[in-house]
Amino acid sequence: MASEEDVLRTEIRWSYVVAGATALILGAILFAGLARGINPPSNLERIDPKTLHLTGEFAEGNLGTRVAPNGDVTVRIVTTQFAFVPQCVVVPTGRRVTLRFASPDVIHGVLVAGTNVNTMVIPGYVAQVHSTFTKTGDLLTPCHEYCGLGHSQMWAVVRAVPPDRFAADAEGRANCDRL
Ligand code: CUA
Repeated sequence: MASEEDVLRTEIRWSYVVAGATALILGAILFAGLARGINPPSNLERIDPKTLHLTGEFAEGNLGTRVAPNGDVTVRIVTTQFAFVPQCVVVPTGRRVTLRFASPDVIHGVLVAGTNVNTMVIPGYVAQVHSTFTKTGDLLTPCHEYCGLGHSQMWAVVRAVPPDRFAADAEGRANCDRL
């Protein structure tokens, strides 16, 4: 028969274990966020899903990779049932890239294999993720949010190339055909 003191001692011992586990998990979250730059997407920016393809940054002519005069690289992709538009985008390695996604229909998801890019794309909002690509090659980019019967055929490619192979035209456009 355990005495009240024994019970108390056991409870205190377990409270240390629980506190330790909590500290470990908190530490892992802080390490991922601060040291590795892995954060939940927190961009709050609205866009009208009914008109996003007509004018503005998600009109067809503005999609894909753009290099601004100041050197900022921005990738814009429309996620729609059941395709990424464009299906291939090119990015330079070793440089901060801003990826922006919008959906005109239902919720989709974007994951670029082996990188920190992982977000949902919710109609009505612009999903934005920053990344610095390190690996070169064609990175598989599937939709990871069930969006209908064609979900499993919905995927894209992010082509990461070394900076010396990355080239934009006079308007700052870079695309997979030019490589
Ligand atoms: Cu789009 Cu699943």
